[in-house]
Amino acid sequence: MPGLVIVGSQWGDEGKGKITDLLADHAQLIVRFQGGNNAGHTIVRDGEEFKFHLIPSGILHPGKTCVIGNGVVIDPEVLLSELEGLKKRQVSVANLRVSANAHMIMPYHVLLDTAGESHLGKLSIGTTRRGIGPCYADKSARLGIRVQDLLDEKILRKKIMAALEPKRLSLRPYEKDPSLDLHTITERYLEFGHQLEPHIADTARLCWESLDRGENVVFEGAQAALLDLDHGTYPFVTSSNPTAGAACIGAGVGPGDIDEVWGVAKAYATRVGMGPFPTELVDTDEGRRMLERGHEYGTTTGRERRCGWLDLVALRYAARLNSMDALVITKLDVLAGFKSLKLAVRYRSSEGAVLDHFPYHQTILHSATAEYEELPGFGEEITECRDEEELPSAARDFLRFIEEFVGVPIRLVGVGPSRDQIVELGEGSPYS
Ligand code: IMP
Repeated sequence: MPGLVIVGSQWGDEGKGKITDLLADHAQLIVRFQGGNNAGHTIVRDGEEFKFHLIPSGILHPGKTCVIGNGVVIDPEVLLSELEGLKKRQVSVANLRVSANAHMIMPYHVLLDTAGESHLGKLSIGTTRRGIGPCYADKSARLGIRVQDLLDEKILRKKIMAALEPKRLSLRPYEKDPSLDLHTITERYLEFGHQLEPHIADTARLCWESLDRGENVVFEGAQAALLDLDHGTYPFVTSSNPTAGAACIGAGVGPGDIDEVWGVAKAYATRVGMGPFPTELVDTDEGRRMLERGHEYGTTTGRERRCGWLDLVALRYAARLNSMDALVITKLDVLAGFKSLKLAVRYRSSEGAVLDHFPYHQTILHSATAEYEELPGFGEEITECRDEEELPSAARDFLRFIEEFVGVPIRLVGVGPSRDQIVELGEGSPYS
């Protein structure tokens, strides 16, 4: 089963990093294929906490090759500081490879992101303000700066000049910002290029060679289906495609190289930023309990995440969008002690119509309310459970209900933040 894609199935922060880290044990290559440092992965290893924004979670495995694919947008300062942080903790980064075709986040992208959000006022998207949207916009407008450009001073200067020009108007309030000076930016980015040079590679070829040798390759998605630029809750989405199809584009492989797609979902739901969230618990004890027990604060921005019940209508939609072969349910332990557990099984439109499918129309989704199936809760803590049989029967019933509704088997269940706090169901890990 060489090509395995791991994607988020909700609004991000499902715990994909931990799952990738776990599956990376059996893979030779781990590839990030979209997004940028808007993502944040926290991995706890032997009691030590690691936070990543750009580097694939597989970096903690000595000898594995980790790739930042062409579909990722890279803030070089963030990447270099992550590399520095890892080196200080004696983690080897020698096997990190960065696609020469990946696009760079430039200082003006960050300024434009902030300016754009401020202009929108009440209509703002709630972005992470890391320059992600403006960077992808420049990529599409063919004004982007790619990693390979950092290695050629003449080209770099020309391209930055061309990219800066059309932004003058919107960046007028920032005119005196030194980070907008052509010479200063060029010099800084040349220096970044110099430092990154040992890692820059033709990463698509690395993927082909690894797959051709029959090695396992894990494609690690960031964000999630409902933040997908095309299929998510537009415009409250990110500017890339966090769905499985994008693994091909963002890594440079064909659909035939993908053998399985695994979706990760929390046992409840969270969202950061603005946008519709039909199962949100606003100002309720249950929502606060999820926030506190689940430590639901953003890895990237520290923002409090909005919490709510697991939305099976949305999860089934994500499963179909991704051709999902298996589900991983994380943070089931957070739900211990809830009297009952709710699962959204349909929506009701503001006009009273029953909606069995995720509505494609923004207006309908914004005003839809979720209707629930209510199952008994489990009182006992489950953080020590390692086998399916050790889980309380109410927890097993909860999982079974999800599987049946979504039509996708659950293979792994997270019962705590550590690597070993995992329960395998059915066939378990694809590599066991
Ligand atoms: P952007 O990706 O910074 O442009 O933000 C667009 C939307 O995606 C905002 O609602 C962000 O909160 C959300 N978002 C981006 N990255 C993540 C993530 O890794 N986890 C959860 N939400 C994210």
